[in-house]
Amino acid sequence: MAPAPSKPPMPAPRKLFVTTALPYANGNFHIGHIMEYIQADIWVRFQRMNGAEVNFVGADDAHGAPIMIAAEKAGKTPQQFVADIAAGRKPYLDGFHIAFDNWSSTDSPENHELAKQIYLDLKAAGLIETRTIEQFFDPEKNMFLPDRYIKGECPNCHAKDQYGDNCEVCGKVYAPTDLINPYSALSGAKPVLKNSEHFFFKLSDPRCVAFLEEWTQNGQHVQPEVARKVKEWFSVRTNPDGSTSEGLGDWDISRDAPYFGIEIPDAPGKYFYVWLDAPVGYLASLKNLLDKACIEVDIDDNTAEPSGMSLERYMAQPELEQVHFIGKDIITFHTLFWPAMLKFSGRKTPDKICVHGFLTVNNGEKMSKSRGTGLDPLKYLSLGLNAEWLRYYLAAKLNGKNEDIDFNPEDFVARVNSDLVGKYINIASRAAGFIGKRFGGRLGTPGDDGTALLEALRAAAPALREHYDARDTARAVRETMALADKVNEYVDANKPWELAKKEGAEARLHDVCTVCIEAFRLLTLYLKPVMPALAQNVEAFLKIAPLQWADAEGALPAGHAIGEYKHLMQRVDAKLLDQLFELPPATASEEKAAAAPATPAKPATKNVAKPVDPDAPGGEALAETIGIDDFAKVDLRIAKILACEAVEGSTKLLRLTLDVGEKGEDGQPTTRNVFSGIASAYRPEQLVGKLTVMVANLAPRKMKFGLSEGMVLAASHADEKANPGIFVLEPFPGAQPGMRVR
Ligand code: 2FM
Ligand code: ZN
Repeated sequence: MAPAPSKPPMPAPRKLFVTTALPYANGNFHIGHIMEYIQADIWVRFQRMNGAEVNFVGADDAHGAPIMIAAEKAGKTPQQFVADIAAGRKPYLDGFHIAFDNWSSTDSPENHELAKQIYLDLKAAGLIETRTIEQFFDPEKNMFLPDRYIKGECPNCHAKDQYGDNCEVCGKVYAPTDLINPYSALSGAKPVLKNSEHFFFKLSDPRCVAFLEEWTQNGQHVQPEVARKVKEWFSVRTNPDGSTSEGLGDWDISRDAPYFGIEIPDAPGKYFYVWLDAPVGYLASLKNLLDKACIEVDIDDNTAEPSGMSLERYMAQPELEQVHFIGKDIITFHTLFWPAMLKFSGRKTPDKICVHGFLTVNNGEKMSKSRGTGLDPLKYLSLGLNAEWLRYYLAAKLNGKNEDIDFNPEDFVARVNSDLVGKYINIASRAAGFIGKRFGGRLGTPGDDGTALLEALRAAAPALREHYDARDTARAVRETMALADKVNEYVDANKPWELAKKEGAEARLHDVCTVCIEAFRLLTLYLKPVMPALAQNVEAFLKIAPLQWADAEGALPAGHAIGEYKHLMQRVDAKLLDQLFELPPATASEEKAAAAPATPAKPATKNVAKPVDPDAPGGEALAETIGIDDFAKVDLRIAKILACEAVEGSTKLLRLTLDVGEKGEDGQPTTRNVFSGIASAYRPEQLVGKLTVMVANLAPRKMKFGLSEGMVLAASHADEKANPGIFVLEPFPGAQPGMRVR
């Protein structure tokens, strides 16, 4: 007899080591961190549903000069400072269902040891060299100054108080030594030039260049748009003085004491630059996790043999995939320095660097708390907004590319209420009651039309799997919602609520409701990586084991008893979104007080009837006397009009884009959007490039056309009819954006 054909062997489970970028331990998580963690968490949960064995780790990025300086200001040791920050991480991670397997710190013993070992291996490979460089030194603080702590006058446009690397006024890139009258931003002292020996990783070595060109361009490790960006760096780079050179430059990996970091072996007083040991923190957190697992298993089994795996053995598994989720601002570190460090220290290189864009709010505005556009993650939770609404919303927008995505409150409400609750949750709520009341909680058998519908739902599983694997959650969500639409069409065509009243339609009612419940099970499965807590409640309601991806192939059998339906998800109340973006109370009341002008650029001629006094200067009596303290509350700043345009739908307003010398959370220059009622007096092109004065601390005002973030000053006569004209203020030459007017 011929032997029975053997089943094809089950494919070995994927083994994944997944990380997100390690946040600096100098502040709480902001929504950008949470977005990245949610994206990675969804991917990890999806992979686990497919049987993958995943280690998903994070850690605090503890080192560097800014943290050392912040700790000193706070009167704490750097260790205490970062420990206090770390202690505040849990509510964010738990609150948004982000399930890291481990959270460590780059100041851990594991990281100290690993970073040193990697450095020694790179040295043994002939890729470390020392050079003497001349650097600014603060004689009062007794320390070398990082570029961002040196300020002075721009050598190009002579703007004052510019940073050591580039001018925010004219945009010129230069070296700190080019600054006129440089001073230390830490002590105010005049820095002196001093020599120091620095350690360099020779990225320009032909071995590194050849490896990195292949690694970044072979289509396997980074998204195509990222590969294109990286390619440019192989041909040209910008030097600190703004000039350009050919190809990759060597990387300065050392900093002098005092520095909070890891001391370089055999180099007393020299520390690794924070970016050297930060990514090593990925491996250190993993080691920390693996070592903990060893101990736990030992105790449980009461055996002396550790049953966990050492980092070395774990990383040596040929099938292991190493995947890093990062933002687009740290591509260089993850596509050049980190792979080269790993490769030439004889270690496994990453398999994928998944780069995402930034989160903006309301059509591309950068998040900023002071302007009321920040989305504070803990405030979100404390208002009772459901974490899974945000997970769903972000999933519906993230497509695996490094594009920015926008948080728009109206869109958020629509997607949650219409899609999530309206299309998906309602399927269960429309059917479950009948199953409970009329059929003893037991499912029946789907009819032919229902079977066809369910088959269509099941047939979608392979494509959805591909989309999740490619991190195109937007497509996975979109296609799942299209399936929900089909189910709703089926419900509307069969109207269970009418069948329930119809004589002799009992069997059909049972069939239709069974189809709905099974469809709901499948949709829940498809959305489970995005909404794990909801899925858990559905599993309890359906009385089923935790859903795995393979369960898309099965079905709940006839006779299966489900539980009692309890409402699974509320609709979002739009008012909560208003509260989320509301400014803190003090600012809100200031806003009220200042809300009088209909057009922010000119005095309140519209809302408040102002008596015209022909004998008074400018046609109006002087306002009440104020003290200097009252005046000091108004923060007037020089603003440069970078752009100006007419406002569609308004004959009075111009939209101004102003540079007030500000920077966003990412350190990049930001601008203000201000609507000004000066369209009758100026054409946009007359204003572009001019300097003016603005009230910079006026609470932002939501206007029909968008958010107005301040007010430009202009003069006008109280009796505009008799004395027409609006005159925007312009400072004398020499004033620079951001300077305060006192
Ligand atoms: O840019 C940052 O916030 C860094 N702390 C990211 C470090 S990622 C990794 F290399 F540790
Ligand atoms: Zn300049």
